[in-house]
Amino acid sequence: MELIYTTRQAELSDINEIMKINKICLPENYSFDFFYRILSDFGYACVVAEMNEEIIGYVLSRIERPFTSFLGVQSAKGHVISIAVIPKYRRKGLGIKIMKYGLKKLIDHEVETVYLEVRVSNVAAIEMYRKLGFYIKKEYKEYYKDGESAFVMEWGKKGSSEMSLEPK
Ligand SMILES: CC(C)(COP(=O)(O)OP(=O)(O)OC[C@H]1O[C@@H](n2cnc3c(N)ncnc32)[C@H](O)[C@@H]1OP(=O)(O)O)[C@@H](O)C(=O)NCCC(=O)NCCS
Repeated sequence: MELIYTTRQAELSDINEIMKINKICLPENYSFDFFYRILSDFGYACVVAEMNEEIIGYVLSRIERPFTSFLGVQSAKGHVISIAVIPKYRRKGLGIKIMKYGLKKLIDHEVETVYLEVRVSNVAAIEMYRKLGFYIKKEYKEYYKDGESAFVMEWGKKGSSEMSLEPK
């Protein structure tokens, strides 16, 4: 059955619902202050999906401007911090939908590259990111507290993956 839901930019007032979903879905749980900072500084790049006024999925991203003493300030990079969809609503296209929404917002803010970390065992997320045009850039050994490694996946605006942002 088709899922009827809406997507919108996340608001600070969504913080408790977002934190609740984060706890249900992921072992990487952040503090209230961390979520608060992301939502207040980068709310424009954070997205929620809602059904009957209940949040059923979210993606939080931020924009980073790396600085090196050699090259100075580098161009802005998007960083997907966390994404999750409540288990019973998964595999219905929601993850892709909110990711596309978030990526568009990042691009609107002059981001040309977006990256994220994902557990090497997280096939669902890795496949979703691949569908969006992300590729595995490198691996961080024993990145997570429990010793699991992470893939760093990257998406570039200047590449064949741009088409993948078109709505399904
Ligand atoms: C990753 C996650 C957000 C995907 O959300 P979703 O709404 O189910 O994603 P979609 O329905 O848009 O799926 C898009 C594609 O991803 C891939 N995918 C999703 N779930 C999958 C699974 N369990 N196994 C294999 N591929 C999967 C498929 O290619 C799928 O397309 P298809 O259904 O047409 O085959 C969701 O599984 C989730 O919340 N997981 C727990 C939190 C998490 O791991 N977050 C990522 C941290 S880096």
